[in-house]
Amino acid sequence: MDALKTATLALALALTPAAHAAGKGKTQAGPDPKIQALAAKFIEQSFLPGEGQDLSRLQQDDTLKACNQYRDQPPEKVAAEINARERATIKYPEGGKLMGDWKNGEKLYAAGFGMRIGRIEPDRPERQKGGNGGNCYACHAADPKEVAFGTIGPSLMHYGKLRGASEEMVKYTYEKIYNPQAYTACSQMPRMGHNGILRPEQIADIVAYLLSPESPVNK
Ligand code: HEC
Repeated sequence: MDALKTATLALALALTPAAHAAGKGKTQAGPDPKIQALAAKFIEQSFLPGEGQDLSRLQQDDTLKACNQYRDQPPEKVAAEINARERATIKYPEGGKLMGDWKNGEKLYAAGFGMRIGRIEPDRPERQKGGNGGNCYACHAADPKEVAFGTIGPSLMHYGKLRGASEEMVKYTYEKIYNPQAYTACSQMPRMGHNGILRPEQIADIVAYLLSPESPVNK
């Protein structure tokens, strides 16, 4: 069996804890840890080291581990712990200006470069962190004229027009992009600032793109 098939099988097993637990007559909160470890090992082995391959990303931190254990539905207490831990990671741009340049934000919102790994076309090391993009269109609509967007996240079309650009909204939007898990314990959205995908100033530019009345998002 090739590595991919083995990994797929291990993953499938890891994702069916109920059957395993039921077979042994016990209940457990998440996937069987042994099978989970096996799945993690297979996934790790499928990424060959090489230029642009940041394999450190395969190491799960405590938050990812907890979200996996509870299949993204942690009990209230665990969710509160995750929110607090992730909130503590948030850093703000120097000078504290959370609304930057919307035109640069527009580019960053659309750009798909940044921390792509894999053997086909990994990002070059200098494009891995910071100077790249948020790939926001992969999950969110924004500019009403843009027709290609994903729908994993809610539409952000007319975001500022609908919500206004109060100090509170600016702060929420900045923090949400920096670390969505400070608000939603097991959000599907990447922790853009915390994981170094975007720098604080770049996040401020995207905040302006979403909130500024001049931005195409709000036309
Ligand atoms: C892999 C998919 C994915 C990507 C990529 C992604 N998001 Fe999200 N985003 C989500 C999901 C899912 C939610 C809803 C859950 C939540 O609130 O965490 C969300 C929520 C949000 C919210 C809160 C919306 C609200 O109604 O309050 C904002 C703002 C946001 N995303 C902005 C961005 C920006 C800006 C980027 C790019 C830098 C981005 N997202 C990239 C999936 C994604």
